[in-house]
Amino acid sequence: QKTELSAFRAPLLHFLDDPGLDAAQPDSYVWYPDGLLLVADGRVQAIGPANELLPTLSADVPLEHWPDRLIVPGFIDAHVHLPQLGVIGSYGAQLLDWLETYTFPAERRFGDPDWAQTQAARFMDELLRHGTTSALVFCTAHPASVDALFQAAENTGMAITAGKVMMDRHAPADLCDEAEQSYRDSRRLIERWHGRGRLRYAVTPRFAPTSTPEQLTLAGRLMSEYPDVLMQTHWAENKAEIAWVRDLFPERHSYLDVYDHYGLLTERSVLAHGIHIDDTDRNRLAQTGARIAFCPTSNTFLGSGLFDLPAARASDVAVGLATDVGGGTSLSLLATMGEAYKVGQLNGRALSPFQAFYLATLGNARVLHQADETGNLEPGKQADFLVLDPAATPMLAHKQAPDASLSERLFDLMILGDDRCIQRSYVAGVCRYDRSPTTRALIA
Ligand code: GUN
Ligand code: ZN
Repeated sequence: QKTELSAFRAPLLHFLDDPGLDAAQPDSYVWYPDGLLLVADGRVQAIGPANELLPTLSADVPLEHWPDRLIVPGFIDAHVHLPQLGVIGSYGAQLLDWLETYTFPAERRFGDPDWAQTQAARFMDELLRHGTTSALVFCTAHPASVDALFQAAENTGMAITAGKVMMDRHAPADLCDEAEQSYRDSRRLIERWHGRGRLRYAVTPRFAPTSTPEQLTLAGRLMSEYPDVLMQTHWAENKAEIAWVRDLFPERHSYLDVYDHYGLLTERSVLAHGIHIDDTDRNRLAQTGARIAFCPTSNTFLGSGLFDLPAARASDVAVGLATDVGGGTSLSLLATMGEAYKVGQLNGRALSPFQAFYLATLGNARVLHQADETGNLEPGKQADFLVLDPAATPMLAHKQAPDASLSERLFDLMILGDDRCIQRSYVAGVCRYDRSPTTRALIA
């Protein structure tokens, strides 16, 4: 009888805590230049230096050896849109005309359940190909788009949180729902999917301009009726958007106050963007525990502005890192870290590679309330991990120096790396993506 245990030997990095914005706190991460990861029944059984753990293994345990690769926890995307793969890289628009011109037409196609299913399967494949093993996802206003996504996620075993867009005004009629119906549809989807395996639901009002006060009220009611679902929306991304919200909700002090008023600010709330905000907003976020998803490739591509990460951190606001595809230009969290670094530079403060890798793994797991199961490779957690190839491209290979520090190696990956660096993606111990099945690990 073969044991269920399997072993992965490689340079190995994961985080135990937030490394901070400057020099990494030494206890915040664990780095094994020659590490061993033991997996049983989809979960991490042990992690440590190879020379300590290898002698404990019996000879029949299958072992993969990746001496010139790097194992890290699977990346987590804190904000991404299922229906927007085809919208990526759409020319010449900023948020509001981008929605009208490109995004709403693409989302309309999800009225066809066959299309939704094909796209959902493709979406999961693309996430895995980019090293993303978990995500918080916007679907469309069509309930069938949520069924399609959750079904595809269940087929891969991934921890996915998603929701039906609630949108009952200021969008094409055939994309809009109606307040009461959106409440009932959301409830039905919560009952069907929330807590099934690794799947969870997020109440998903698109953003304040596309919901009536009645719909926002019902979204708030869902949050109080189902206290463990998440809430996701967009907030303070673009100046024209913010002016529009001021016109639509003149009785509210601020854009954030709209969400606050309808009971949508809790520690389970993830607000994408939050660029044009002030300390009153930050303090209210910190008080309520609501989080921001920082989407750097989207913010630069759509010309939205530069998110101020240090200011958010100084006010104790939790921040995650996200691609926001199709406003964002890549599903790769590596590419996203690189863009976050450039946004930091334009704000006058560099983003450290430790902070960037923390955000994409344990940081996002905490933001999405799933750090008990994901985010690092502590024993007992789900074995969601990546084999990264630090020399995946000629430029990366050329830059490799034998004496490079860990920080330099991570920085090369985040500045020059992307989906080409993903050798393999494992979900709950199962290899769900293999870049080149012909490239074999050394089998000991
Ligand atoms: N605000 C409202 N909807 C969207 C969307 O789909 N993408 C982005 N980036 N911002 C939004
Ligand atoms: Zn978005």
